[in-house]
Amino acid sequence: MAAVVIVGAQWGDEGKGKVVDYLAQSFDLVARYSGGHNAGHTVIFNGHRFILQLIPCGILRPGKQAVIGAGVVVDPAALVAEMNSLAKAGIDVTGRLFLSNRAHLIFPYHRQVEVAAEAARGASKIGTTSRGIGPSYEDKMSRRGLRVCDLMMDAACFREKLQHLAAEKDAICRAAFGQPLEVAGLVDQYLKFAERLRPFVADTSALLNRAISQGKRALLEGAQGTMLDIDHGTYPFVTSSNSTAGGACTGLGLSPLSITGVAGITKAYTTRVGGGPFPTEMPDLEANDLRQRGKEFGAVTGRPRRCGWLDAVMLRYAIQLNGINSLVVTKLDVFDAQREIQVCTGYRYKGSPLAEMPPDIETLEKVTPEYRTLPGWMASTSSLKDPAALPAAARDYLKFISDALGVEIGMISTGPEREATFLLPGTKLASWL
Ligand code: IMP
Repeated sequence: MAAVVIVGAQWGDEGKGKVVDYLAQSFDLVARYSGGHNAGHTVIFNGHRFILQLIPCGILRPGKQAVIGAGVVVDPAALVAEMNSLAKAGIDVTGRLFLSNRAHLIFPYHRQVEVAAEAARGASKIGTTSRGIGPSYEDKMSRRGLRVCDLMMDAACFREKLQHLAAEKDAICRAAFGQPLEVAGLVDQYLKFAERLRPFVADTSALLNRAISQGKRALLEGAQGTMLDIDHGTYPFVTSSNSTAGGACTGLGLSPLSITGVAGITKAYTTRVGGGPFPTEMPDLEANDLRQRGKEFGAVTGRPRRCGWLDAVMLRYAIQLNGINSLVVTKLDVFDAQREIQVCTGYRYKGSPLAEMPPDIETLEKVTPEYRTLPGWMASTSSLKDPAALPAAARDYLKFISDALGVEIGMISTGPEREATFLLPGTKLASWL
């Protein structure tokens, strides 16, 4: 039995897609537990670049099953578009993709409300992906959301539910933003999606629990990252779900006792998209350079990502929150031409060391990071065939991170392709496969 959680240890975009794609070889199912099509998981192989937003990356491995759990918010239009683009690339999802009947739906008006709300916030906007994620989770929490099981009901029943909800949302939208809700043709459009998605709908919690108890191996794929978690991240500059490892249990309907390991993914540095505090953010010139080398532009929105040094304070927090027992370091090759590398080892606030991650952004914005400077390796790691051939300074950098965090490094990645991924022998991560 194995159920391993893959969690972003930073602000998302750590390269989870690539890691999941690699690890999926050794698992039977890959299940996505939170978020929606705000995520963009990139996998490159055979010269093709796939960006998956909703469907777990395991789908790219023949014979593997992919599950979208109840904790995910699903825009049927985005899901159908993703299924179509996979079909175009010759990847058939039939009999391999399972969509939770309890997942909440995103409607176009969720996007409309989000865009209006962001505009109303002015300079303090969150910088969301404008996919309607937050408003859909708001409806879920306020117990007025519609779920996949509602869409699967008979047409008249769904029509009635949606019309009732749309009238309520229209009144809120007019009062709050002075805009009517765009709902024309909505019911018919969603009823068409219902027919396309019906063959994939399942009780995915029952399916997963059954599979695990039969000895199948499940990889539980998170979206976004620890610092974007609604409860534990840099609130309010966060996403609207639990992206931390606990979300795998609630989002998939699995007991915490089924989890056998948690792998945290971090880049060799840090990036963030959208607003909010970022203690180790680099000055513009340096950030620009790293952004170009690391191609740090959003996979979903194309937005330039903010860039900074690795933050061990944040990673220690992520390890504690998620129970990370193996760390994967991605994009090590982006530092190939970096003369000196800095790592933040502590925060000071008003001159004193901070023992805990501050809960409020006002404090986090004012912390002074303490850095250790390490030498770069000034050699290419991008074409390595064997991790034993890593330059000594690169090995020292990894050892420094592992020692500073008190956790093993189980895998590294030195390029965007599938082949540039190395499992480190003798690690816990290797033993889970
Ligand atoms: P939302 O999830 O679209 O509501 O956006 C909330 C915040 O999370 C914004 O700062 C987004 O940029 C960020 N965010 C959401 N999804 C991702 C992701 O997959 N990678 C990185 N940042 C993300």
